[in-house]
Amino acid sequence: MSMEAFRELSRNQQKKVMRQEMWDRRAAEFKDKQRQRRREGRRRHKQRVARGETPARRKPSEQTHSGVHVVLDMAFDDKMCDKEIKSVCSQVRRCYAVNRQAAQQVDLHVTRLHGQCQQRLAATTDYSRWSAQHVVFHDGEYLDLFDKQSLVYLTADSPNVVDRLEPGKMYIIGGIVDKNRYPRLTLDKAEQQGIAHAQLPIGQYVRMATRRVVTVNQIFEMLIGFIQTGDWKSAFLDVIPQRKLKDVPDGCAEPGSGEESASSAGNSDSDSGSGSGSDSDDGAS
Ligand SMILES: C[S@@+](CC[C@H](N)C(=O)[O-])C[C@H]1O[C@@H](n2cnc3c(N)ncnc32)[C@H](O)[C@@H]1O
Repeated sequence: MSMEAFRELSRNQQKKVMRQEMWDRRAAEFKDKQRQRRREGRRRHKQRVARGETPARRKPSEQTHSGVHVVLDMAFDDKMCDKEIKSVCSQVRRCYAVNRQAAQQVDLHVTRLHGQCQQRLAATTDYSRWSAQHVVFHDGEYLDLFDKQSLVYLTADSPNVVDRLEPGKMYIIGGIVDKNRYPRLTLDKAEQQGIAHAQLPIGQYVRMATRRVVTVNQIFEMLIGFIQTGDWKSAFLDVIPQRKLKDVPDGCAEPGSGEESASSAGNSDSDSGSGSGSDSDDGAS
């Protein structure tokens, strides 16, 4: 808009125009940052491939079963707003894609997919055609489907820490994006149901600038990473975005020394993308 035209507007209209311009500028900056982040992820991945630390991203010619089971517990539909539903669905899609590409896949189960999540996933993907080798959808609850003794709810609030993944165990991930609105949600659920719970040993290997609550797909990718390499540290570093690490490039504490940073009140789960180049379209957990 020309300066002259702007001057002819009423004060209120001028304010509106200025607000709109500011909004457009911020949106462009945000998009720019997203683009840079993705570029950075791809660059880091290429470097790791070149160093032989991680295999190139392509479908393995032969895939084996790790024997580990992972359950995405989608029972939290009523706790999320539209945007969060969109994010969590995108994270479910990402988990499926990662499982298809892994040299050693897990047995992936999705339980209680219903309501808005089910509608959103169906609207964006024909998930009924997803390969049953890489994901199985169950209408029911995991408690009714699997042996209770084999269940381990993964939750950042648990005092227990997983040190290895046991074949035959069912590791449950809470299918929710809540921006820390519901602390202890999954821990309370596991305790009420009387099932085992544990957090991943992130703090023992990586010093994060934010809380160690990460997104559904990030936790899934960490599990997959550990299964491929047996190395928690690389599994974490491959997934956690660099800006969330406290000390970069070294970024790692000695095992056992990982305490949380003073900025732990931040939304560490505000990012659905992973350092390995997530295709999630959301930016939230
Ligand atoms: C965004 S978090 C949800 C946080 C939610 N307030 C809760 O109580 O679980 C999504 C899921 O990822 C898993 N998760 C996130 N960070 C984790 C960690 N550090 N260790 C184990 N699981 C984690 C949990 O299963 C969690 O339910």
